[in-house]
Amino acid sequence: MAKKNQTLGEFIIENQNDFPYSSGELSRLLNAIRLAAKVVNHEVNKAGLVDITGAAGDTNIQGEDQQKLDVYANDTFIQTITDRNIVCGIASEEEDDFIAINSQDANHQNKYVVLIDPLDGSSNIDVNVSVGTIFSIFRRVTPVGTPVQPKDFLQRGAQQVAAGYIVYGTSTMLVYTTGKGVNGFTLNPALGSWYLSHPNIQFPEDGQIYSVNEGNYLDFPEGIKKYIKYCQAVEDNRPYTSRYIGSLVSDFHRNMIKGGIYLYPKSSTNPTGKLRLLYECNPIAFIAEQANGLASDGYRRILEIEPTALHQRVPFVCGSKNMVAKAEEFMNAFQE
Ligand code: AHG
Ligand code: MN
Ligand code: MN
Repeated sequence: MAKKNQTLGEFIIENQNDFPYSSGELSRLLNAIRLAAKVVNHEVNKAGLVDITGAAGDTNIQGEDQQKLDVYANDTFIQTITDRNIVCGIASEEEDDFIAINSQDANHQNKYVVLIDPLDGSSNIDVNVSVGTIFSIFRRVTPVGTPVQPKDFLQRGAQQVAAGYIVYGTSTMLVYTTGKGVNGFTLNPALGSWYLSHPNIQFPEDGQIYSVNEGNYLDFPEGIKKYIKYCQAVEDNRPYTSRYIGSLVSDFHRNMIKGGIYLYPKSSTNPTGKLRLLYECNPIAFIAEQANGLASDGYRRILEIEPTALHQRVPFVCGSKNMVAKAEEFMNAFQE
């Protein structure tokens, strides 16, 4: 039961028993993620300051350039999780291949793998616009104590045991699900604690917002073009409002709270879509469904897609139930 003033730490402990044979490993993993998120949040909030002090003539003590924030976020999440020895493998947008963690050692009984987009929307960093982190957690399918394999990572999204995101916005929030609804925690930066601020988040069934990079309009599939025209039509409760930040996490978060739809269709520059199935679409789709929304590639449920590659891309349509159903109607009418 969600309690007023409850911290994320308390919430994780209290809900640990939702997992029948839990050894506390998933809780420890979520604890590592919330810690890494605070470290990254601190760095994101300083973006730009290092350059300013540098310009004033100060020399960096280590004589190093400021690390790019997506590299910094990647290193922070990987190191925090690896140090705690709580998973057998990590896959990241920033790494060509997955990283195995002591998985060949028979003494290591770690049974989870994590897939992560350490910094989502990174083109927004330089201009003070919200960015995020996205993570997806599976139980490995190969036996513990044996080397972790590609098939441990290439699982259908429906197999996820947990997924979440952090949005580094006007305030910093961590939103996650373990398959029992979606809860959001806001960071109190003075105390460094996350407090349950958004218990049991639910998508409104209908919405008034559509989010898509309309610069690609001429290149979109016919069904998407027609759906966008439907969003813009002056009838019933339309036109909808167009809102596009360019950080999936932020666009999704707003739409989930207010009601809306996010679309990243295929185009000639992105023939299979732009967003990555394993560490962007799957975790967001899991959260969407847990919050009574939908996520599809225009024709089929994202969580049912059988992955074939770590960095595979898919078209993505996600949001309020009735809006996604409507977009699928248009896609199906113009199959291509
Ligand atoms: P990332 O920064 O992790 O590479 O992800 C960027 C993604 C996603 O966050 C965003 O919605 C989308 O790219 C924006 O793409 P466009 O600039 O093509 O609209
Ligand atoms: Mn991303
Ligand atoms: Mn990224």
